[in-house]
Amino acid sequence: MAAGLQLQRFAAGAALSFLILLLGFNPSLSSGAHPFFHARDTISVGRSLSGNQTIVSRGSKFELGFFTPGNSGYYVGIWYKNIPVRSVIWVANREAPLSSTGSSELKLSQDGNLILVDISKIPVWSTNITSRKPSSIVAVLLDTGNLVLKASHGSPNLLWQSFDHPTDTWTPDQFFGINKITGEYQVLTSWKNSQDPAPGLFSHRIKPDGSNGYINVWNGSVVYDETGKWNGHAFELLPQMNLSSNFKFRFVETRERKYMKCTTCNGSTPVRMVMDVTGQMKISIWPDGLQEWLLIWTKPIAQCDVYSICGAFGVCDQKGLPPCSCLPGFETRISGDWDLGDWSGGCVRRSALRCADNSSSVGSRQAPDVFSVIPDVKLPTDSQNLPAASAEECKLACSGDCSCSAFAYDGSTCLIWNGKFHNLQQLSSGADGRTLHLRLAASEQQEYSRTHKSKILALAITGSILAFLILSSITLFAIKWRCSSAVGEALEGSLSHFKYSDLQKITNKFSTLLGRGGFGSVFAGVLPDSGLVAVKRLQGLRQGEKQFRAEVMTLGKVQHSNLVRLRGFCAEGDKRLLVYDYMPRGSLDSHLFNGEAPCLDWRTRYQVALGTARGLAYLHEQCRERIIHCDIKPENILLDDSYHPKVADFGMAKLVSRDLSRVLTTVRGTIGYLAPEWITGLPITPKADVYSFGMVLFELVSGRRNTEMIIGDAEVAAVYFPLLAALQINEGGDVLRLLDRRLGGDADVEELTRACMAACWCVQDEESCRPTMGEVVRILEGVLVAGLPPIPRSLHYLVHSGDGSLSV
Ligand SMILES: *[C@@H]1O[C@H](CO)[C@@H](O)[C@H](O)[C@H]1NC(C)=O
Ligand SMILES: *[C@@H]1O[C@H](CO)[C@@H](O)[C@H](O)[C@H]1NC(C)=O
Ligand SMILES: *[C@@H]1O[C@H](CO)[C@@H](O)[C@H](O)[C@H]1NC(C)=O
Ligand SMILES: *[C@@H]1O[C@H](CO)[C@@H](O)[C@H](O)[C@H]1NC(C)=O
Ligand SMILES: *[C@@H]1O[C@H](CO)[C@@H](O)[C@H](O)[C@H]1NC(C)=O
Ligand SMILES: *[C@@H]1O[C@H](CO)[C@@H](O)[C@H](O)[C@H]1NC(C)=O
Repeated sequence: MAAGLQLQRFAAGAALSFLILLLGFNPSLSSGAHPFFHARDTISVGRSLSGNQTIVSRGSKFELGFFTPGNSGYYVGIWYKNIPVRSVIWVANREAPLSSTGSSELKLSQDGNLILVDISKIPVWSTNITSRKPSSIVAVLLDTGNLVLKASHGSPNLLWQSFDHPTDTWTPDQFFGINKITGEYQVLTSWKNSQDPAPGLFSHRIKPDGSNGYINVWNGSVVYDETGKWNGHAFELLPQMNLSSNFKFRFVETRERKYMKCTTCNGSTPVRMVMDVTGQMKISIWPDGLQEWLLIWTKPIAQCDVYSICGAFGVCDQKGLPPCSCLPGFETRISGDWDLGDWSGGCVRRSALRCADNSSSVGSRQAPDVFSVIPDVKLPTDSQNLPAASAEECKLACSGDCSCSAFAYDGSTCLIWNGKFHNLQQLSSGADGRTLHLRLAASEQQEYSRTHKSKILALAITGSILAFLILSSITLFAIKWRCSSAVGEALEGSLSHFKYSDLQKITNKFSTLLGRGGFGSVFAGVLPDSGLVAVKRLQGLRQGEKQFRAEVMTLGKVQHSNLVRLRGFCAEGDKRLLVYDYMPRGSLDSHLFNGEAPCLDWRTRYQVALGTARGLAYLHEQCRERIIHCDIKPENILLDDSYHPKVADFGMAKLVSRDLSRVLTTVRGTIGYLAPEWITGLPITPKADVYSFGMVLFELVSGRRNTEMIIGDAEVAAVYFPLLAALQINEGGDVLRLLDRRLGGDADVEELTRACMAACWCVQDEESCRPTMGEVVRILEGVLVAGLPPIPRSLHYLVHSGDGSLSV
């Protein structure tokens, strides 16, 4: 290190330049006026960068050069040298793309600025400084990712640095806050979309009011999330930051600057914080061996909590992929951007409203437009409120005003939205949503209901055709079965190897979708010998066939009455499919949270809890190769004919190349099941499953989703169920009060107490405090008696965040 500094100090001297050449010369940079005078991390006067030339920081951590993120437009940027997925941390000309790199140049100009000139030699970007000694100025790319401009190679003073002008990314050595001397703020601003680095609508910055917290801002004015004040230990609204020693941020104030600093990040694992095009702040790390960015933290957690994420007249569904869609009667304004993850353009009416149309006859003012009913939504908060005695009166108020585009009535108040509205969220049915009445042109309403009806008709027809097909294929296969060879060749144990064409046949070309999950879609199929099966088509696998077969063989050996049985697989080209037993009663969530389904009685719920625990205990403790499920939630607990639970999707994390970041990005809707260590990036152990199981236990008791109570409005937030249960248990209160009201108190109090105790122990913050899955089984069986569980700290944090919304 010392030698390096010394070399730098003397670098201007020609005598030593030969040494520098030996130590760090990049042969790809042999053009330019003085080819032998420069280290590979430096741009100096008379030497420019163009085409595919780059400079690389001394320790080879970062690289600077031209790049093109989409299909057109070239930019100068800095990215990680050793990360194979190009991850750009800084862009110079984010608003002024070049049409080609051919004769564009990045160089030091006569006046001492680093400038970027296009083909016609017109500067499109400049560092904009005034300097006294332009002739010896150098630009150096440091190992921190900072591009600095110095008066000379040895000079300690920086004339300009890229860290003062960040794009959308913060890296651990970057100052991110305010420079008190120049008054300059560092603001992270999202890219416009995944292929366009131009500034988007979302930014993250220190609060301008001097209160030492950070905020997410939409379009430079609307604050939609914040970290809360720095209280000397933590940012008040960032609880997870305190849950693990792995990620500690500090807020630092010096004479010159205020900024946040990661005290536990060290150089060996790249860490970055990005203001994503989704409007969420995302922290990810690049762990050794994963070969992918691992997303460990987002703020806000829910995509739909980002301000105007779907633009005007868009509706955000947390479970949708993509989350945004247009309201009925509307279409996307700019379709290309929607595909690139920028939905902010929103939607426009397909047919203009008649109301504002003066040309139509004045007499027919009464019923030109209609109102379409949109149920189960979370309403935008920026309504105009009028008192109204009835829904009819509210409707009249809206239809009498041509600028009114929607209304909602809550029993006493009429909520009216004029013109465009944003931030409408679709909730699942039974989630305490509200109903919006949307004004549409009469022609749209007709069309809408017509397509709706024809869809139902089409469904009915498809249904009967399907039933016929299934029946006939069973018969056909039964006949074929006798005279031809089996579908799927039997392999070791009972696992079969299927041809893709066979699976196409048995699923009738994948025509009956049973469900969609994080790893792919599931279709119904009929096997000649054993009836209905579920065929899972896996997505996003990058495993070779050999490794895939090996993993599948391991999973095939895992057999337990509480685990869904794997029957076979298919690996052909890039196609990967798994064939499972079909579970006639579907997944637990469809029984537990669906208001229309018959309510599961307590005996069944307890049986589901115990069976699931046994299945997991087997995975963790009795299998030859210990398997962590990583995604326990009601969707992955299937029920057979007699409501015996069977855990599905185990071993997926391993099968899908330990692709943890994909797991994380697809659980957006179910983040409530993730253990704290997931979110803070600690290594995952079987105790993460124990945590998720605890959350499922709470839901079996309450019959409601834990998260739904938080995401609702402020009063509901106060009763986050797991916390309520923890308090109740801790104070020795009446457990029957925790029970799903639909059961009317009809439950075995002893079992209920055991279930609540076990759940509370399962969701402890410290992994070591949580029981093992085997112990959970014994607690539920009544063999092991659990002591009084402490109240987990993290439950408190979840609730005590400002307005109570799930802003973690
Ligand atoms: C970089 O430029 C050289 C010389 O013009 C050329 O041979 C090489 O193919 C280029 N590399 C890439 C990756 O474009
Ligand atoms: C440099 O200054 C010019 C003129 O004042 C301005 O248009 C341009 O945006 C500035 N560039 C940067 C990178 O600040
Ligand atoms: C953002 O704000 C500017 C004015 O501050 C306004 O002109 C523009 O329309 C806004 N963008 C959106 C998408 O609303
Ligand atoms: C965070 O952790 C520190 C030390 O571990 C503790 O002193 C502090 O009180 C914690 N902050 C909160 C908000 O609990
Ligand atoms: C950096 O992190 C790695 C992995 O967490 C750890 O093993 C190493 O000791 C750390 N180094 C320093 C200097 O803190
Ligand atoms: C319709 O008439 C009203 C008043 O009669 C007027 O203010 C408005 O601008 C007219 N709208 C159009 C689209 O001509």
